[in-house]
Amino acid sequence: MKTLIFNGSPRKNGDTVAMIRALRESLPGEVKVIDAYRANIRPCVDCRRCWTQVGCVIDDEMQQIYRDIAEADCIVIASPVYFSCLTGPLLSLMSRLQVLYTARRFHRVRLIEKAKVGAILLAGGGDGSPARAEDTAQGLLRCMRATHMETVVTHKTDTLPAAEDAELLAAVRELGEKLAAAHE
Ligand SMILES: Cc1cc2nc3c(=O)[nH]c(=O)nc-3n(C[C@H](O)[C@H](O)[C@H](O)COP(=O)(O)O)c2cc1C
Repeated sequence: MKTLIFNGSPRKNGDTVAMIRALRESLPGEVKVIDAYRANIRPCVDCRRCWTQVGCVIDDEMQQIYRDIAEADCIVIASPVYFSCLTGPLLSLMSRLQVLYTARRFHRVRLIEKAKVGAILLAGGGDGSPARAEDTAQGLLRCMRATHMETVVTHKTDTLPAAEDAELLAAVRELGEKLAAAHE
């Protein structure tokens, strides 16, 4: 089982990373984490070359990620909630998924053959609602042909950091087991 996790947090030991660590404890197989704040990936600039040719012309680390997405059995989007959205760098990276849409729309080509399971992990301090962030993450999972299985969310990290939230971490570990079972 190959799992690709997109991490939208800038914090190396933050709440999102605590949830990702818990997930990794129960996820079998290969796990690759893409760190949106540290990856060398440019945003989509809507140059529209993908309207006339299949694929993205920007030659950077995203080319490998397209291959990783195609091969993955499971995709997880993990992010802090910023102003009720996913974080900017995560959305910037994800903007490069537009090429998956244009391949289908203009070339009738499906770049992602393998269907996958998907999940979402969200961390919010307790202010703006995570609902919109979840909605966006669900759309991104669909774009990568991942069927959303479950979202685990904490909305109280201002008072209870994810790393100290036993109930949350148990729910995340359980999610890992469900994703593994769905793959079998
Ligand atoms: C710029 C910014 C915007 C934020 N907006 C929200 C928000 O809308 N809702 C919320 O619940 N928390 C919000 N937070 C709090 C973070 O989501 C929260 O601290 C989260 O646990 C951080 O996760 P991390 O440690 O994985 O980076 C915001 C934090 C920052 C820095």
